Amino acid sequence: MEKPLLLYIFLFYWHFLNALFTVEAPQSLYTVEYGNNVTMECTFPVNGKLKFRDLSVSWEKKDDLKKQVYVLLKGEEDFKSQHSDFKGRIKLLKEKLNLGQSLLQITNVKLRDAGFYRCLIGYGGADYKTVNLKVKAPYRTISQGVVSIGDNTWKLTCQSEGYPRAEVIWRNREYEDLTDKANTSYETGSDQLYRVTSTLTIKSRIDENFYCIFWNKELQENTSAILHIADSADSVHRTESRRFVRAVLVMTAIFGSVLLFMLCIRKARASKDHRTPVASSSIARLSKDKDTYGYRDAALKRMN
Ligand SMILES: *[C@@H]1O[C@H](CO)[C@@H](O)[C@H](O)[C@H]1NC(C)=O
Ligand SMILES: *[C@@H]1O[C@H](CO)[C@@H](O)[C@H](O)[C@H]1NC(C)=O
Ligand SMILES: *[C@@H]1O[C@H](CO)[C@@H](O)[C@H](O)[C@H]1NC(C)=O
Repeated sequence: MEKPLLLYIFLFYWHFLNALFTVEAPQSLYTVEYGNNVTMECTFPVNGKLKFRDLSVSWEKKDDLKKQVYVLLKGEEDFKSQHSDFKGRIKLLKEKLNLGQSLLQITNVKLRDAGFYRCLIGYGGADYKTVNLKVKAPYRTISQGVVSIGDNTWKLTCQSEGYPRAEVIWRNREYEDLTDKANTSYETGSDQLYRVTSTLTIKSRIDENFYCIFWNKELQENTSAILHIADSADSVHRTESRRFVRAVLVMTAIFGSVLLFMLCIRKARASKDHRTPVASSSIARLSKDKDTYGYRDAALKRMN
């Protein structure tokens, strides 16, 4: 299917294959982040109103085997020949064809989409250009673990997913390089991404910081995480629960003052018969403020 189409376009317009018809690629390299969308562009000359019936547009990927990405033949889209790699993720922005733009949109870009693409256009004449698509996946989130294995020795772990392969560098607070003491393993994670796990086993005193740095050499990108050695492995949880208690106290204080405020308003409304509206509302505001401060003070005292 792929070869005949190419031949078809070229043979049909063979006698026009001179400088008359030229396809241009305004941008020859596209770099896109894994999971994002990309729109690649080729341009061709349109004089006057586009005659759709005379137009053939094709995008193909130059892998070991050529893969058909998109075909529009004599104004008719043909998805039958589309390679399964691209199913459901390809759109040609047809409204732009009138302007002489062949815009191919790939959604939810995969790592395997990286490579060279050829855009062919037949319209009176025929020509093609090649564009390069690079796909990157930064090691953005690093999950970490700190486990005591006794005798002041700690097992520190950092794990993340990305592409291409990253080296993991370990440092302490003094910026000493500890990478030699670490073990780093590479697995194939989801959708061809590398799952990189690095483990550093080290003697350390309490209250020390360590850093793992994911060094993506090809992308010139570093991401890092700080690992904190606290007095016990579950101290992380203790900090968390302390935070939780504090949050609960603050919420109680706020909720309490709102309740009191509403009570005051009710009281004020109930005694409306005896006072003027202005006086009652200002009393309600005053008592609300007083109560809020009282509660806040109590909450602060309890926290400290
Ligand atoms: C990619 O394009 C699709 C369809 O046009 C859209 O729904 C989605 O939000 C886009 N994704 C990003 C990351 O821009
Ligand atoms: C790291 O790997 C080496 C070789 O596989 C092994 O001998 C060593 O015990 C490992 N160290 C850790 C901390 O897992
Ligand atoms: C990333 O970290 C490595 C190792 O610490 C360093 O050699 C390199 O210069 C850093 N690169 C960038 C772009 O920060």
